Amino acid sequence: MNKSLFAAITAPLLVALSLTACNSSTAKPEAPLEGARIGGPFALTDQNGKTVKDTDFAGKFRIIYFGYSYCPDVCPVDLQKIAAGFARFEKQQPERASQIQPIFITIDPERDTPQVLKQYVGAFHPRLIGLTGTPEQIKQVADAYLVMYKAQKPAGADPKAYLVDHSRQAYLMGKKGEPIALLPYDGTPEAIAAEIDKWTA
Ligand code: NI
Repeated sequence: MNKSLFAAITAPLLVALSLTACNSSTAKPEAPLEGARIGGPFALTDQNGKTVKDTDFAGKFRIIYFGYSYCPDVCPVDLQKIAAGFARFEKQQPERASQIQPIFITIDPERDTPQVLKQYVGAFHPRLIGLTGTPEQIKQVADAYLVMYKAQKPAGADPKAYLVDHSRQAYLMGKKGEPIALLPYDGTPEAIAAEIDKWTA
């Protein structure tokens, strides 16, 4: 991802984070993203071709990562680490882990069909769900989660072989879909499991 895109992505997120910073008078430690305007309703299509809505996960925590299956380097590494962290937490706390849904949402719906996603998500974790949709549906959900993306399609290049610049956030969302924290997607499985543990107790 290039630097200006990164700045464009980070700025709104920092604003969202700073809005919650002055509000820490309660005894209970406040979640880093508490009160931030991140997330919202969606209706997308899963890797089995079934319509999935945010409300289908009511009562469950969600780990949400946006990316695309053709991503050559960043997405597969992040997903591997998130999956390893989640798997570690699953081993330590199987019952609590069963109440957490890991979700991958594509920002490349043109190529990431349900069939493509089915192969892809299965390679990372058996419980990882892959979601795609129309370009409009994906734009809407990406906007709601402050995720920016842009396909790089230079004139004259192979129209099927393009890269997509995109922001890199692994969200931990609460049981009502409210934002809780960003997971350290480049951390060790221990660090990721510890962060999941901290906010889902
Ligand atoms: Ni990627």
